[in-house]
Amino acid sequence: MKRRVTKAIFPVAGLGTRFLPATKSIPKEIMTLVDRPLIQYAIDEARAAGIKEFIFVTSRGKGALEDYFDHANELEAHLKKSGKEELLETLRSTNMESGAIAYIRQHKALGLGHAVWCARRLVGNEPFAVILPDDVIAAEKPCLQQMVEAYAEVGGNMVAAMEVPMDKASSYGVLDISDDMGAMVSVKGMVEKPKAEDAPSNLAVIGRYILSPRIMQTLNRMKSGAGGEIQLTDAIAEEIHKGDKVYGLRFRGQRFDCGSKAGFLQATVAFGLARDELRDEFQQFLASMLAIRKAAE
Ligand code: G1P
Repeated sequence: MKRRVTKAIFPVAGLGTRFLPATKSIPKEIMTLVDRPLIQYAIDEARAAGIKEFIFVTSRGKGALEDYFDHANELEAHLKKSGKEELLETLRSTNMESGAIAYIRQHKALGLGHAVWCARRLVGNEPFAVILPDDVIAAEKPCLQQMVEAYAEVGGNMVAAMEVPMDKASSYGVLDISDDMGAMVSVKGMVEKPKAEDAPSNLAVIGRYILSPRIMQTLNRMKSGAGGEIQLTDAIAEEIHKGDKVYGLRFRGQRFDCGSKAGFLQATVAFGLARDELRDEFQQFLASMLAIRKAAE
């Protein structure tokens, strides 16, 4: 099996109800951290990892995503004419090569496993990545790149992994570890959203995967699992039982759960503070806000 990963699936069909009313008219993936939509962070990470084909699994009401990835020719011409080179460069850096993006509709919200399965024909017989854009990861070396490098060594299937507090394990897919090698673990089982007392460890799956195309056949037969949805976690667990290897990679970086309001705000602060042009003013503002809150307590 070839170990170069050039295709990635972005499941973006979710309704984003946790961000209503904002998501009444915009897909949650268009919500911005500082000045870039969530989806741009996911695309940039995929590109850094060598991904060339981008497969979006969308749903009704996600048209703004397609527009976002269209080239803004008029806007580019306008910026060029008015000599706004820096903005022009920013805009052009988001342009995608013609034919590099494909959109598939998930007609029913049947779960992450089903969303991935919807892309089976585009994936064909190659290993592929899955990126959940809600999970934004700040890292010196982008998370998927770390995974692609590790995958080139070991093959099989790989998930990004992170230790979480035991009482939070029930929000994640959780790994049952057979061999802990430090940065990497070998996995002998996986459970989607276990009760805290049933969690096999506190090592949780974060939304980055590199999967063998064989998983599509498994997904084909998958019955619904946790939450009544067809779970990707269950399909990966079945691959292990069939004798396929699954590894968890403890990536280096900070993960933000931008599918939750608290996580989104935390990411906004972290990415704001990471920007040279904003840092001083923003930091002062945050300090004064905290001082005011403390005085009021
Ligand atoms: C999904 C996966 C879960 C994983 C999580 C990471 O869950 O099903 O295994 O741990 O993403 O963010 P969701 O958060 O979509 O419920």
